[in-house]
Amino acid sequence: MITAAQNEVTLDPDSFRSIAELAYRESGLTLVEEKTSMIQSRLRHRLRALKLDDFAAYCTVLNSDAGQSERRHLISALTTNVSHFFREAHHYEKLAALFDSRLSKLRAGGQMRIWSAGCSNGQEAVSAAITLAERTPEISNMNLKILATDIDQNVIRFARTARYPQRLMRGVTAEMRETYFGPPAEENGEKHYPVSQTIRQMIQFNALNLLGPWPIRTKFEVIFCRNVVIYFDAQTQERLWPRFHQVLHPDGLLFLGHSERIAEPEKFGFECIGPTTYRPLPQ
Ligand SMILES: C[S@@+](CC[C@H](N)C(=O)[O-])C[C@H]1O[C@@H](n2cnc3c(N)ncnc32)[C@H](O)[C@@H]1O
Repeated sequence: MITAAQNEVTLDPDSFRSIAELAYRESGLTLVEEKTSMIQSRLRHRLRALKLDDFAAYCTVLNSDAGQSERRHLISALTTNVSHFFREAHHYEKLAALFDSRLSKLRAGGQMRIWSAGCSNGQEAVSAAITLAERTPEISNMNLKILATDIDQNVIRFARTARYPQRLMRGVTAEMRETYFGPPAEENGEKHYPVSQTIRQMIQFNALNLLGPWPIRTKFEVIFCRNVVIYFDAQTQERLWPRFHQVLHPDGLLFLGHSERIAEPEKFGFECIGPTTYRPLPQ
């Protein structure tokens, strides 16, 4: 039972600093003091789950040797997972054009790799897969894979179920729903749409912290990293650009979110070729 007292626990300045330091160290998230009340309300359920009386006790758990699983809950509670299908449609148009330009190579057995980095519930990866499936019925026979990763294990678990409730279906047209989703099942009074096998088999969902090691041995033709770095400071962003450059195909494209940009693209080997769209500078 939730008591009134637990609902009123406030995030004191020392605990805020301790949580902000930890979030920055673990995930690159920059927490600003103005967001204290939002952070407080996002974390109160963790205090309830652990039966703790205040945030100081919560910080003790977080910073203990045994706190690793709680640190994962913390990051999950602090990340913003808002996404929707076909968000920022112009990137999917560019993806389609790049795919068309590689079609003959793909038909001859060539490969194409796409990365949705910071994929949240998976709508970005599913939208990319649908975009490509719309281009050709031969898609299942092609060497084409989409890697979709996120630091938040909860969203990865959800994405792997490949079932979307009606409220998350925004952006999917009725025709697409007919073609790329199965018949809905009713659950808790809401329709849930299963993603078709054709689309599912194109995508691999994995937990991955962008600030940690990347066990990646391929080059991507397209990297989506949208609405992720907005939560990072400049220093953290600048650590990421060279790493994306390293895993991007020389003819590949990097897409950022609508309010994100690489401040000095040339410094990191990129050129900006359109809104929030970058490609490696020719060597
Ligand atoms: C707002 S969502 C963006 C989803 C999707 N890319 C889009 O634009 O619709 C941001 C995602 O970035 C993830 N994220 C934040 N920090 C991360 C990190 N250090 N490594 C990997 N993913 C991270 C969050 O968990 C969240 O799911």
